[in-house]
Amino acid sequence: MSKQLKYQYSGTRDGKVKMYGTDDFLQPIYHKFGERFFQYRKDWDETGQGGTALRDFPLFLDIEPEYKCNLRCVTCPHQYGTKNPTYINNRMTPEDFRKICEEAGRYGMPAISVSNNNEGLMQKHLFDYIDAASSNGIMDIFVGTNAHLLTEEVSRKLIGSGLTRLLVSIDAATPETYQIMRKSEKFDLVIENTKTFKRLRDEMGESLPLLRVSMVVTSLNQHEEQAFRDMWTDVADIVSIQHYIPFKGEADAKDDLVPQDRPHLENPICTPLWQRMSIRANGDVIACCHLANKLKVGNVFESDIHTIWHGPEMSNIRRIHAEGRYKDISICKSCMS
Ligand SMILES: C[S@@+](CC[C@H](N)C(=O)[O-])C[C@H]1O[C@@H](n2cnc3c(N)ncnc32)[C@H](O)[C@@H]1O
Ligand code: SF4
Ligand code: SF4
Repeated sequence: MSKQLKYQYSGTRDGKVKMYGTDDFLQPIYHKFGERFFQYRKDWDETGQGGTALRDFPLFLDIEPEYKCNLRCVTCPHQYGTKNPTYINNRMTPEDFRKICEEAGRYGMPAISVSNNNEGLMQKHLFDYIDAASSNGIMDIFVGTNAHLLTEEVSRKLIGSGLTRLLVSIDAATPETYQIMRKSEKFDLVIENTKTFKRLRDEMGESLPLLRVSMVVTSLNQHEEQAFRDMWTDVADIVSIQHYIPFKGEADAKDDLVPQDRPHLENPICTPLWQRMSIRANGDVIACCHLANKLKVGNVFESDIHTIWHGPEMSNIRRIHAEGRYKDISICKSCMS
């Protein structure tokens, strides 16, 4: 019998990410970490729904140890290669990454992404990053990928590595739309790699990493949203439908990828500002996960995460949002449209 992936929640109050899963889709991670994970999810949901008391340390860091990708998706700044205004050539050393995890570990930070706006499986030191996070007590460890390099060998290494979530972005239900969205002819390979990952995980008797597949909905693929959800119901643990964010960040710029009939976001306060920050390969700390990387609030090689989290730049952005004035920040205005 087909399993039911029901709408579970939108991780934040702005409704940008919709999650479909079974009622107990996080059970394997609860099982591994027990009460501490339960408390983290409670904190995450409360903060995401607008509990704006500031925590002592972020719940989640989105780290981009290097900035590299093998695709040029139409939604993403990577399509401009080195001409992308946010392009940087830096690569964090595994020691730098470990130091960040050590600080996070001292504060009991529960969750991390080890790829951010990067292609996770292209990273030479990926398994060092996963180890650095898990050996510092970080429970929920994410990596994002387009699955082109998700071979059987890589899948086997990921299963049992300490990774808790493999996020595979697909954006289409047919090869034609995949080509338009992701500029790649490899739709069939991506589907096969992703299904093989799941099959291997089952054969190995493991329930982690959870498999999440996602679609960013644009004017070019919105007609395939239901087909996409249907095609992954029996395979993925989580299907995520995501809000397309114009990455140029110009508030009034016309962007043909925005779906025509898209409703406005509910409750436009950016609650992730109270949950998380991002760190780039050159150490720059960004207030949020926006692909344009515009809201720099510090540098982790010049200061530490705790100081930046409580610092004046981050506090100012939060204050503007808390006062309902997010439109004063151009990139936030376009992001919330
Ligand atoms: C930038 S990618 C990096 C990880 C990996 N390369 C991948 O594609 O999954 C991270 C996520 O951002 C999504 N994304 C790309 N462009 C976006 C946009 N303009 N708005 C919202 N999400 C976007 C991707 O689909 C993916 O789920
Ligand atoms: S969305 Fe992911 S796969 Fe596509 S270009 Fe951006 S980083 Fe690469
Ligand atoms: S650009 Fe502004 S609204 Fe968008 S995620 Fe960042 S802080 Fe939030």
